[in-house]
Amino acid sequence: MRILLVASAFNSLTQRVFVELRDRGHLVGVQLAQAPDDDALRAAVRRHAPDLTLAPMLKSAIPADLWTAHTCLIVHPGPVGDRGPSSLDWALHEDAERWGVTVLQADAVMDAGDVWATVPCAVPAGVAKSDLYRGEISDAAVEAVLLAVDRVASGTYAPQRQAGLVPAGRTRPYLDQSLRRIDWRRDGTAAVLRALRAADSQPGVLDELCGAQWFLHGGHPEDRLRGRPGELLATRAGAVCRATADGAVWIPELRARRRPGGPPGVKLPAVTALGGLLPDLPEAADGWTDIDYREDGPVGVLRFAFPGGAMSTDQCRRLLAAYRLACARPTSVLVLGGGRDFFSNGIHLNVIEAAADPAAESWANIQAMDDLVEAVLTTTDRLTVAALGGNAAAGGAMLALAADEVWCRAGVVLNPHYRLMGLYGSEYWTYTLPRRVGPAAARRLTEEALPVGAAGAQRLGLVDRIVESGPADFAGDVRALAARLAALPTTPQRIGEKKARLERDAADRPLAAYREDELARMHAIFFDPQAPYHALRRAFVHKERPTRNPAQLDALPRAGSVGDR
Ligand code: COA
Repeated sequence: MRILLVASAFNSLTQRVFVELRDRGHLVGVQLAQAPDDDALRAAVRRHAPDLTLAPMLKSAIPADLWTAHTCLIVHPGPVGDRGPSSLDWALHEDAERWGVTVLQADAVMDAGDVWATVPCAVPAGVAKSDLYRGEISDAAVEAVLLAVDRVASGTYAPQRQAGLVPAGRTRPYLDQSLRRIDWRRDGTAAVLRALRAADSQPGVLDELCGAQWFLHGGHPEDRLRGRPGELLATRAGAVCRATADGAVWIPELRARRRPGGPPGVKLPAVTALGGLLPDLPEAADGWTDIDYREDGPVGVLRFAFPGGAMSTDQCRRLLAAYRLACARPTSVLVLGGGRDFFSNGIHLNVIEAAADPAAESWANIQAMDDLVEAVLTTTDRLTVAALGGNAAAGGAMLALAADEVWCRAGVVLNPHYRLMGLYGSEYWTYTLPRRVGPAAARRLTEEALPVGAAGAQRLGLVDRIVESGPADFAGDVRALAARLAALPTTPQRIGEKKARLERDAADRPLAAYREDELARMHAIFFDPQAPYHALRRAFVHKERPTRNPAQLDALPRAGSVGDR
């Protein structure tokens, strides 16, 4: 079928739907909705002549002239009858244990159209909104979309009226800050975490801290530390620990509230954001952290989970230190990652943007990232596995390629390219990417700058194993698979061959030469104030909406050129 995706942004779910539909042979176009002007959308519909227009994530309404003349379906992240712009926020706010995704026919009343498909999903305890969105919701949405597409293709399926499925629809309002507020003197840890997780990663919970107004982002429980409710107790891994009425929570990131006429606030590690406002606090030795290492017999798992998958200089250095400690342990398989949500999205663009000298911070960050990748590439005494429970992009995708094996959850989307940020790229990608997929595919992936799904990545050789688990089971399944890998009779032999292979490759071209060449190009970009990277980074960090459809989406094959796929 010819399918046009219409979305407010080419975000994770839109990318996932895009790769899943393309994988099934559909001709897929993408048009970003640029409200208030719907003309670009009308022109895209004329150009693409879709059999079906589908909106995986649309914050505006499809104009009536389009949905009356064409089949237009909307993906709503909620069960049948749920309506409104803050579905997932409300689900977490109210501690729902089950939720769902519904594919609806576009209609005059938002989310009230006929139902083409609906798929339920679990809401695991302790999950944050964006993590849920990119995990269980994304899986359910793809299942519902594929069902709806088949039903449209059948030409005979009649969608069901909502009224026939649920007694009454419920439109819930935008969940604004007045409803999210935390009362630190009264609210216990459970209530505080509920509020934080329903607002994570956006919009955060507006609050006061150290005499200023901040949006609080992310929240994890603390078991031991206690103090006066609302008081800051400790720092760890860039996060702050704050006392609740009956315990304490860790808050990893803060975003300054925008002052009238001032620049927009940028989400930063809490300790960095507070800077000089931070009182003298102890650095906690235990409690929540973003990096942890576990060992089970011959398998080590170095799990890391950075908000938004962004890895600052400090995070890279801490991860490298943990990697070195893990390498000192007597294991034969070392797994990197293995958690839910983003694996890595490369250097931390927000920290860079907020730095006094963004060029110098970019440079420090890329070196720290390269040091980490180098350590993985030069590990010859055990097998390394990058386990991607969630998406990876740019340098974060290349970090995965440094491992001997790349395993990813079936729902993962990879963006193995740097072009959209105006970067040449680093992380030894000129060594690892062609080695895995060949030079022609490496060129195409980096130049087309399109997302690749797990199945497509496996076909290309980017990924070695697809793990068919839900987001909640991925970590356990990876541990079991790693134990099996460690027990294979061929594993000692593979480890034995690693050193010789690295030496052979180095005789061809030393690793340092790849690094030097990549970094020379990155240095030229970072330290050229006119390089597009600086404006692209600023736009990304400040979430500026594109004013036209991105070029890589306009370049997709259109109707009449099906053979181009
Ligand atoms: N630095 C800082 N923050 C980053 C980041 C990075 N490298 N990559 C992602 N994020 C943040 C986003 O700002 C966003 O924050 P929010 O939740 O507060 O809104 C969050 O992570 C999720 O990203 P988002 O862009 O909303 O997700 P997506 O699924 O729509 O898109 C990417 C994912 C990876 C395609 C997109 O985030 C991206 O292009 N990131 C930059 C990659 C890059 O160029 N890295 C630098 C070169 S190594």
